[in-house]
Amino acid sequence: MGEIRTVAVVGAGLMGSGIAEVAARAGYQTVVREVNTQLAEKGLQNIRRSLDRAVEKGKLEPAERDAALGRIHTTTDFDDLRDADVVVEAITEDLDLKIETFRALDAACAPETIFASNTSSLTITELAAATQRPDRMVGLHFFNPVPVMKLVEVVRTIATSDETYQTTLSFARSLGKEPIEAKDTSGFIVNRLLVPYVLDAIRALESGLGSIEDIDKGMVLGTGHPMGPFTLSDFVGNDTLLRIAEIMFDEFREPRFAPPPLLRRLVTMGYNGRKSGKGFYDYSGETPRPVM
Ligand code: 3HC
Repeated sequence: MGEIRTVAVVGAGLMGSGIAEVAARAGYQTVVREVNTQLAEKGLQNIRRSLDRAVEKGKLEPAERDAALGRIHTTTDFDDLRDADVVVEAITEDLDLKIETFRALDAACAPETIFASNTSSLTITELAAATQRPDRMVGLHFFNPVPVMKLVEVVRTIATSDETYQTTLSFARSLGKEPIEAKDTSGFIVNRLLVPYVLDAIRALESGLGSIEDIDKGMVLGTGHPMGPFTLSDFVGNDTLLRIAEIMFDEFREPRFAPPPLLRRLVTMGYNGRKSGKGFYDYSGETPRPVM
């Protein structure tokens, strides 16, 4: 298998922009595809902000920032992903949309291009089956914030070739990440454990076990987590957590994956978390205030 030189990232949201940033920082030519130029520009702004922060913290030289930015190109056209050696898909957690995207990629990219999905709860198998290259399909699951979190879950299906899998592991390491190998079941390793925990915290709140702040404080100060479950849910996005829970519940049919009513109410009201200004906390002031 050839060397990886060009990386394509499909979707420039929270995860896609982070993945594009680490790819460009690792020296790869990076093409980012979004559905329109406004969203592509928004993703690029996130990358600029994150690189500026690294420069301010003395972790990156200004020249390295400029070089990384120079390696990133945006497009709305799948045909511009033709030369990519690996494509990382990081669009919305929606099976039909992902299948449609992989079909378009299959038609646009060279037959040897490796396809990776950053899905957090769908299986790689159902995406691979929609392509003509199931042997070249893997899961590459990053964690938010991508430039900071060291972990990547690398997932193989029964059809993934050894060569594809080994190339993907090396690619993950070349991004400065620590890969772990995970089986292709919904949620892989981390979300299988993390999602029921956050859903349980919401159920604890629903049943009056404690306040948002006290449950968060309990888990931060009592167990050394960097964020309590509500801060984390707002950080990941309550809409995203709801989607993941629905998909995992669909896969396992176990109550512990069932989304609690309060999570649905928040999402219906648009309280999607930090990105929308409100979630379990209101982020409009100096410090976040619980909404209930
Ligand atoms: N982009 C780039 N860098 C960032 C960043 C961002 N969005 N947010 C923080 N950083 C960097 C800072 O520059 C800082 O770097 P330094 O230590 O070298 O100076 C470092 O991260 C720590 O940042 P801060 O001091 O500003 O803030 P904190 O100490 O509060 O750390 C945090 C922030 C790293 C986000 C920490 O709170 C944390 O680890 N939280 C838990 C995150 C987590 O669990 N993520 C996984 C979510 S699950 C997931 O993604 C899977 C999906 O499928 C749902």
